[in-house]
Amino acid sequence: MATRRPINPSRRVSESGSAPFSSSFHSRSRSSPYLSVALIVLVVILIFMFLYRGQGTFGNYKAVTGVEGDFSCTVEVERAIPILKKAYGDSMHKVLHVGPDTCSVVSRLLREEDSEAFGVEPYDIEDADRTCKRLVHRGLVRVADIKFPLPYRAKSFSVVIVSDALDYLSPKYLNRTLPELARVSSDGLVIFTGYPRHQKAKAVDKAKYGRAAKLRSSTWWIRYFVQMSLEENEAVVKKFEQAAEKKSYKPNCQIFHLKSYN
Ligand SMILES: *[C@@H]1O[C@H](CO)[C@@H](O)[C@H](O)[C@H]1NC(C)=O
Repeated sequence: MATRRPINPSRRVSESGSAPFSSSFHSRSRSSPYLSVALIVLVVILIFMFLYRGQGTFGNYKAVTGVEGDFSCTVEVERAIPILKKAYGDSMHKVLHVGPDTCSVVSRLLREEDSEAFGVEPYDIEDADRTCKRLVHRGLVRVADIKFPLPYRAKSFSVVIVSDALDYLSPKYLNRTLPELARVSSDGLVIFTGYPRHQKAKAVDKAKYGRAAKLRSSTWWIRYFVQMSLEENEAVVKKFEQAAEKKSYKPNCQIFHLKSYN
């Protein structure tokens, strides 16, 4: 085979054209038994990959990781906006959202009629897109550490919505931040927080948020709200549940509706 090759003029052209490729071709053709073995191994690997993928699509594998991997209560806020509007009515006219990716929530809220929207981003937004930079520039979105008092006067907003942010605070900081969120709202505080069953997915965020999320049960939260003298807004809860049922909305996060301080 090797002796015949130089006779083939087209082969010679391609050989001189791409020397590295042809030399690797030579060595591979010389060790053809190994090549076959390698090919078989490759095919077996590909078959396994294909089977694994297939299982992922039709079996439980993907269903489970899909929920955990994509899990974000900030995304949930966007999904819930129509329901929140039904539950809060006119009170949704001046909303503050607190949480990561607040730019996307603020942009979404600004698309609603008669809605003013503001955001507090608790983490840095170095990778902010142009829309987000514009919101920051207009003063609608601020980057602020929520462990410290919020830079707003009391009752600056009708409704304050917080997502994916309280999960990262220890009770010591929660004790300061939660009253702050209630302080700057006049008609209610909505808390979106992960279910404890999502704990594993959240632990991955440790690098970004500096602290692994501590996802607490609803019992824990309710007991905590009572300690902090924050009351559940029962009228809103009822309206929210009714609207959710009508639109077949099933939240992937725990949602609490609290009254603002009087
Ligand atoms: C947080 O506040 C509650 C209620 O005032 C108090 O019982 C609790 O000890 C505080 N926790 C911390 C860690 O400071």
